[in-house]
Amino acid sequence: MLPSTSLARSRLIVALDLPSAAEAARLAERLQGHVGLFKVGFELFAAEGPVLPRYLAARGEGVFLDLKFHDIPNTVRAAAREAARLGVTMFNIHAAGGRKMMEAAREGAREGESGGARSLVLAVTVLTSLSEHDLTEIGIAGAPEEAVVRLALLAKASGLDGVVASAREAAAIRAACGDGFIIVTPGIRPAAANAQDQARVSTPATALRAGADYLVVGRPITTAQQPEAAADAIVAEMEQALTGR
Ligand code: C5P
Repeated sequence: MLPSTSLARSRLIVALDLPSAAEAARLAERLQGHVGLFKVGFELFAAEGPVLPRYLAARGEGVFLDLKFHDIPNTVRAAAREAARLGVTMFNIHAAGGRKMMEAAREGAREGESGGARSLVLAVTVLTSLSEHDLTEIGIAGAPEEAVVRLALLAKASGLDGVVASAREAAAIRAACGDGFIIVTPGIRPAAANAQDQARVSTPATALRAGADYLVVGRPITTAQQPEAAADAIVAEMEQALTGR
């Protein structure tokens, strides 16, 4: 029996970080109805192209295409149009590409929309792997959080729908950009889970309370003995946090 739909479940994105589209599709079938969206990233896209996102979108599943476009506006516009034509719910670009590139992405998403539903366009502000020292080396001075908020505001001014950001940055982004600006947060570990290689993790409840709208969870679900049960447990944590928010 499929679990009931809920707001919390619709806000859970599972990262399908698996080496083949066939394996990822099998896992997605198991998780159908247990999560809101499926994230397809670089690894799978480089290996197999748009096969999986197209397949999932055609089955009516929500897809987050995580390819982080960053190029000249004309190229990003064309890439955004093609991403939207796949029927994905959301895709992302780098805010560091600047206002014109972000506006072009938004325009491309509109050009590629089908059936009246436009793909949401999200910005990556500052990669969470970059330290303050790394940022200084590439010419970005000051605290990383300042750059994150500045780029989130620029993304909003460029007409984007939201950002991908760590839970630690969510509250500052929410305060600066207001309600209605989408915050998607990876680096999530259920209260009882192993952090794996994520150095700075947050629980689902902490992320939601900080203002996150969507949570991205990979290995705690994809490597679980029972991925469906792992997803359901995370949704239960999310439901509790949302009712207390
Ligand atoms: O397995 P895990 O839950 O760590 O997977 C998290 C997913 O979110 C991965 O696909 C990873 O690339 C992505 N991500 C992240 N941290 C960021 C941005 C994206 O973990 N800052």
